[in-house]
Amino acid sequence: MAQQAHRPREQWATRAGFILAAIGSAIGLGNIWRFPAVTYENGGGAFLLPYLVALVTAGIPLLILEYTIGRRYRASPPAAFHQLARPAEALGWWQVAICFVIATYYAVILAWAVRYVGFSAGQDWGDDPETFLFADFLELADEPGDVSAFVPGVAVPLIAVWIVVLAILAMGVRRGIEQANKIFIPLLVIFFTILVIRALTLDGAADGLDALFSPDWGELNNGSVWVAAYGQIFFSLSIGFGIMITYASYLRRRSDLTGSALVAGFANSSFEILAGIGVFATLGFMAAQAGVGVDEVSGSGLGLAFVAFPQVISEMPAGWLFGLLFFGSLVVAGLSSLISIVQVIVSAVQDRTGLGRTRSVLLVGGVTGVVSVLLFSTDGGLYFLDAADHFINQYGIALAALAVVITVSWLLRRLPALQADADATSAVRLGMWWRICLGIITPLVLGWMMIDSLVNEFDENYEGYPTSFLVYSGWAVAAGAILLGVLLTLIPWRRRPAAGAEAAPVPGAPSTPDEGKRP
Ligand code: ALA
Repeated sequence: MAQQAHRPREQWATRAGFILAAIGSAIGLGNIWRFPAVTYENGGGAFLLPYLVALVTAGIPLLILEYTIGRRYRASPPAAFHQLARPAEALGWWQVAICFVIATYYAVILAWAVRYVGFSAGQDWGDDPETFLFADFLELADEPGDVSAFVPGVAVPLIAVWIVVLAILAMGVRRGIEQANKIFIPLLVIFFTILVIRALTLDGAADGLDALFSPDWGELNNGSVWVAAYGQIFFSLSIGFGIMITYASYLRRRSDLTGSALVAGFANSSFEILAGIGVFATLGFMAAQAGVGVDEVSGSGLGLAFVAFPQVISEMPAGWLFGLLFFGSLVVAGLSSLISIVQVIVSAVQDRTGLGRTRSVLLVGGVTGVVSVLLFSTDGGLYFLDAADHFINQYGIALAALAVVITVSWLLRRLPALQADADATSAVRLGMWWRICLGIITPLVLGWMMIDSLVNEFDENYEGYPTSFLVYSGWAVAAGAILLGVLLTLIPWRRRPAAGAEAAPVPGAPSTPDEGKRP
């Protein structure tokens, strides 16, 4: 068995390479199709206020926390939390399990986008993109939970997506992930800038922007709007599921952490707002063509990308080019995010087993890819995907983040030590605000989010799905994640990290001056 026992940990070649990879992870489907829909449904322009508050009070502080933990312990989430305190290792496995579930379905949406790049060329959906999507392409079963056929039209591009992702991961942090992001991010910026300029020059674009940004200030009194803002920031910034701990574990000891987090956080949000502008300008055009209001053409996520956009592509001159840019952007943005999600599992398996990178990638990729293909390339795949996404977002990520902030700030009281570590190498110094955000504001908001989600869950069935389907899928997600976590923890540590170790604090960092103080 190829061991990596004495192999030094991989490192990013440059700080810019790390920042690009972090931005690549953050910018994904969450920016392009989730943000515009969430903004529109939650008060339009007024939503930007809770969104910014969420970014500053939870997004950036958590990003800095994850970077600091990753760089300090130079390990995957389970091994890093193990070093913070042995029982905290479970938090790391929880994050690995979340990544496993997300990876299985995130790849599927990329596979659809890959197919739609091709469909755009011939506008294969004809004059009914909705029937084309559900009946012809996905061959969707009538009832949630029914599975009777395998859909090769989804399976083939899905396998291709997995091969590309695993090939990049097998090449390693520097030659694979870093180089891929150096290509993906500029490509995405070029694609999306052309797309937005084109969208803004379409008839009706102004009405679309008006619909998106007209503030409904009354919505700010609605707690669910604030919950939606925090939820959007978590998913979109890729925080709470171990990605940033993993990526920061490949940093050099003296890298600037706070500055990198500010750059990555604001780059992600800028792209998100650009995506909102592009998507709603396009919807404005669609509404103008149909002679209806923008509210009648907007949809969320899936409908927006795979029904509304094909409709627009058919209606505009040189629509094939617009289709290539839009679905190409989804593919590129999604690939860089998927790579980061799978890398969390790969690095945890490497740390735990001592397997070399290639074997670890093959093992992780093999298992995750097979589950992904078997479960989601069926005629019932879309229902499973929707349910998995709902449960993992509403409960998995938020609960993991809540457990992390409570453990680090209140149970272990390590914020002062981590702050000293981050400050030792960062141009921007963290103040008391960082500890207040992480120790008080974030736990309160996340706790509230949990209660709000549970109340909604019992109030009405998500998407009107039958209760039995929701109960089974909720348990399937939880059981799958727990089983995976337990199986992985049964494997003995190749090199057990020392619990509570002050893993080589950064040179120049004060030696944990106020360890034990409250946050
Ligand atoms: N942050 C990634 C996204 O927005 C997961 O899609």
